[in-house]
Amino acid sequence: MLFKDSEPSFEKVCQLTDLMENKGQKFTVGDIDIAVFKVHEQVFAVQNVCTHLHKSVLCDGFVENGFVACPAHGWEFNLSDGKRPGGGRGIESYPVEIRDGEVFVKVSQKKFRY
Ligand code: FES
Repeated sequence: MLFKDSEPSFEKVCQLTDLMENKGQKFTVGDIDIAVFKVHEQVFAVQNVCTHLHKSVLCDGFVENGFVACPAHGWEFNLSDGKRPGGGRGIESYPVEIRDGEVFVKVSQKKFRY
């Protein structure tokens, strides 16, 4: 059994003005929970599930120096690429586009392939 990415498309998740600086917000695209952050007028989208204990909590994480720290036990993930400090494999990150003040995210859905 293998995983395969389906064809993703950009989905509107909110207005840019809905996001607060350095605060995460949770959205669901398809059946995937994502966490969206605005940091210095840049918007980032990552999976909301922390890979430590698979809790859907990263939207409540603490943002500092380009990373979000999980509120449960502090694991950190780079908001740009989802990697752990030092470059280790972390979480999924998703492309973001701002169009006319609206935030669009392209979320890859993992599907089973038999
Ligand atoms: S659940 Fe995120 S660090 Fe433990």
